[in-house]
Order: sequence, then structure tokens, then C-alpha cells
Amino acid sequence: MKSKPRIFVTRAIADEALSRLAAHARIDLWHGEMPPPYAELVKRARDADGVLSMVTDRIDAALIASARRLRVISNHAVGVDNIDLAAATRAQIPVGHTPGVLTETTADLAFALMMAAARRVAEGDRHVRAGKWRTWGPKVMLGRDVFGATLGIIGWGQIGRAMARRAAGFNMRVLYTMRPGRPAKTHRQKPENVPGAIRMSLERLLARSDFVSLHVPLTPETKHVLGAKEFAAMKAGAVLVNTARGGVIDQRALYHSLRRGHLGGAGLDVTDPEPIARDDPMLKLSNLVITPHIGSASYATRGKMAQIAVENIIAVLHGRMPHFCANPEAKMCSRRAILRDARSP
Ligand code: DGY
Repeated sequence: MKSKPRIFVTRAIADEALSRLAAHARIDLWHGEMPPPYAELVKRARDADGVLSMVTDRIDAALIASARRLRVISNHAVGVDNIDLAAATRAQIPVGHTPGVLTETTADLAFALMMAAARRVAEGDRHVRAGKWRTWGPKVMLGRDVFGATLGIIGWGQIGRAMARRAAGFNMRVLYTMRPGRPAKTHRQKPENVPGAIRMSLERLLARSDFVSLHVPLTPETKHVLGAKEFAAMKAGAVLVNTARGGVIDQRALYHSLRRGHLGGAGLDVTDPEPIARDDPMLKLSNLVITPHIGSASYATRGKMAQIAVENIIAVLHGRMPHFCANPEAKMCSRRAILRDARSP
């Protein structure tokens, strides 16, 4: 009798989800706080039928080629830019991901960063703790109003629209642009989902917005979608928010724009690379609010992400495609149904 399929889980995920997976598979769990080093990832993937990966794991073509038993990759994230999707598709390995469940949580953080950067919340906190709060003053720590301002949203997917819905509560004017580089015929989102939001080109949006928030996945088309030229085209004093991926902006160009004072501030949850180097000059800027890639980090949402990541694996173990599949074109050959392969005798 053959044993259960083996799944390499690259970090401790929500307990309930892990127990559910344990009922279907043998789990090889990486217990470290830090991600497995690449060589370890390759080694463990080689012995695995599936990998449940994190955004911090580089699942590249070389790893996929050497993991001959691998039948499913399930990312504990909506973004899959850490995975070579084309290589997985060529190997007929479906890649699961977790869209939907983290939409509102990530939009919450984007909105929080926007407000924090506009009203100098983190800077004020540092000021008080450093013993610099001497008095109330009519010109002390002035910031920018969020209510009634214009918010430009780059990327009109689920998270971008959730951000727009929050903005409506602050009486903001919402402008948006569809995912840059994406062909028009694939635009399925309905603009009327958020009443009053106005679609326009990236150029016009940048010129009109007081706040700009990025909500695009990282792809070759969206890499550095905002660079020196785009920052210069933004309004003086505008605030940039990025909860998507560090690589969608040119971080050096952002640094220079913030330092010169053209942009008024920025709120970043993601950087390129991650983590940002401790001596990166960005960290010296008082008009930058930065968090360590925690867009989806609420107890409830991380639990749901773990659950979906596990269900995506279980589906493949039973010969079906993942419920949420980032490469549906990687249709599994029926002979790849692992449970059947693993069944006795
Ligand atoms: C995602 O799901 O892509 C997030 O960035 C991980 O929290």
C-alpha cells in the first residue's frame, strides 16, 4: 500500500488548515521563522507531490524542472510573482492562490497608510516618544486633508475597488485606471461597481490626484509602472501608497522625489527588495510611513488564506483543478491525479 502524498509546507500556517491538510497528506513542515533557503526549498520540493508556498519562496523554472514528483503548487497569497507561472504551466503543474479573502483587509491597510502619511501619524508618534512634544502650536506637524481630496487608483481589481469604496466614505473624488499593460478585451470589472468613480488614462490620473494608490500585480508589464517621469507628473505634495509589490515602482526615483519634496509623502507596505536594507536611505525620510508587507495580516484573513491554500492542494490531490488557479491553462493530465497514483496496491 503506497503512502499518502507528501506536501512541503514552507512555513507554519493556521493550525486548523494544517490539520485539514494532514488528513489528506503527509506534511513536511518548515518550522523556521525565516523562509527555507533556496537550496533547501529545491531539495524538499524534489521529494514532494505538492508545495504550499509563501510570497517569500522563489519557485523558479530550475526548481520546477528538478521537482519531478511535483503535481501542485499552492501559494498562500493572491500574488504569484514569486512563481515562474510559465514553467509551471509547461510542466502541467497547476498553481493555486488565494484571491478574494484578503481584499478588504488589504484595502484597510492601504487606507491606513494613506491617512498615516497624510496626517503624519508615524512621524508624530516618533516625535512624542523622542520627547520632542513641547507644546501645541498653530504650525506644528501640519498635514494634508484626506476628506474631499482626489484619490487616483492604479489597478481596478478587487482591492482597488475596495479602496474606492472606503474613499467614498471620506467624500473623496475617485479616479482610476485599469491595469496598465493589460489588453482592453480582458477588462471584466464593471466601473459602475463604485458609483462616481471616473476612469481615465494614467497620465491624467497622475496629474489630478492628491493621493495615488497602487493595486496591480507585479508582471513584466507593471514593473516600474511609476518611475521618475511619472512621479514628476504627479501634483506637488501628492502622497503615494503602495500595498501591491515593491517592484511596481522605481524605488530610487521615489526616494529622490520624496527627498526633494516634490511628493509630499508615501505609505509603503512593500519594497524592492524585501526586507528593505537597514541602511537604505529611504528609512531616513520623515515623510515615509513604512510597514513590513502586512497588507493581509489580520488573524481572520490569514486563517482564510491558509484554508484556501489547503483546499487548492486537496482539490489537486483528488484529481481536480485548484478552486482558485493562477494558470488554468495548466490542465492536469488525468494520469496526474495523485490520490489515484498513490492508491494501493
Ligand atoms: C498577497 O496575497 O499577494 C499578499 O501580498 C501576501 O500577503
